[in-house]
Amino acid sequence: MATQIFTNISLLANTRNNVDFVRGKELSVLPSIQNAYIVIEDQIISEIGKMEDCRYIKEGTDLAVNTIVLPCWCDSHTHLVFAGSREDEFIDKIKGLSYSEIAAKGGGILNSAKKLNETSENELFNLAWKRLEEVTKLGTGAIEIKSGYGLSLEGELKILRVIKKLKEKSPLKIKATFLGAHAFPAAYKENHQAYIDCIINEMLPVIAKDKLADYIDVFCEKGFFSAEEMKMICEAGKTYGLKPKLHVNQLNSIGGIETGIALDALSLDHLETVTDKEIELLGGFEGYATLLPGAAFFLRSEMPPAKRLIEAGAAITLASDYNPGSSPSGNMNFIVSLGCIQMKMLPEEAINAATINGACAMEIQKDYGSIAVGKKANLIFTEPVPSLYYLPYLFGNNLIDKVMINGSFT
Ligand code: NIG
Ligand code: FE
Repeated sequence: MATQIFTNISLLANTRNNVDFVRGKELSVLPSIQNAYIVIEDQIISEIGKMEDCRYIKEGTDLAVNTIVLPCWCDSHTHLVFAGSREDEFIDKIKGLSYSEIAAKGGGILNSAKKLNETSENELFNLAWKRLEEVTKLGTGAIEIKSGYGLSLEGELKILRVIKKLKEKSPLKIKATFLGAHAFPAAYKENHQAYIDCIINEMLPVIAKDKLADYIDVFCEKGFFSAEEMKMICEAGKTYGLKPKLHVNQLNSIGGIETGIALDALSLDHLETVTDKEIELLGGFEGYATLLPGAAFFLRSEMPPAKRLIEAGAAITLASDYNPGSSPSGNMNFIVSLGCIQMKMLPEEAINAATINGACAMEIQKDYGSIAVGKKANLIFTEPVPSLYYLPYLFGNNLIDKVMINGSFT
């Protein structure tokens, strides 16, 4: 069995060994060990502790002074499988068009769907593989990936097969979410029910039979899917064992939170536009409130009210929303910085939200999301830094020296 020992780690961050999510005030507590060592047997963390108790002074590899080791990011909301890019819309936005206006003129999600349907499965896989390698270098060790740029039986199956292949070939832990209800294809604009029937009667049975998804998602938004339509689709998904992880309250509050809670969603994601009443509901919600500050930053929307949600007791998660339209970056280091800079989260809160709570929002907290004995050795080794706070503070810099996935440096 291959054993690796690293000694003189200036800080081992997020060493919680319980597998529970962190909510409300507890988010500001980040259990850590100063001047620490770690032992890894094969893929698994087998021992951690303080240097003064370390029995492996001789065998251990001393890390450079001021190296911090953190658990890899657990990015619980992405749309990483897509074809082409949408920088023309980026310019449209600079010139003043809104996200909804761009969508209304055939841009947005429908634009990406057109490109995806014209791209071969192989090509799509290669594009996604490259992005996965990129985010791994940036410290992501587990990731959720949604479909939603197919919007046809063939297109949705194609994108989900690509995600399945990524799961098989990548050392990263990957969860797949079926988002056939991302937008209504142009042909169904006047007949929503026909597309919903296609999702329920044509797509879902094949997806379930071929085990192509772990979760189901719906974009609940004005001009997209109503809360009632979301309910219909999620109830059908649940009969196949797919728990909802939902896009709600990005641009408007149209009942998605209340309906999502009634559906026992695993997570409610976005939340840029929330009422006082909804913040209170999220405070008592059993699942996760996933915030995507990259999308709010890119679209110049209000940031989700992270502090108020934390005060209400919510279990906040931070994720990248990596997609070509509203967040063309999967850099979780920047997301953590945005959490601190734009949403006034403490670094401890942001790191908990991007690691253990991210893992919980993918139901993989038993093996991922913190540095604890028995968990997978998915670790970020930083460049020498004066303190943990330096990471979000020096936004836009890559302060990662090495990333370890399942006990191997990438
Ligand atoms: O999470 N809002 C819906 N879906 C994506 C954006 C998709 C796109 O614009 O391509 C999001 O922001
Ligand atoms: Fe999204």
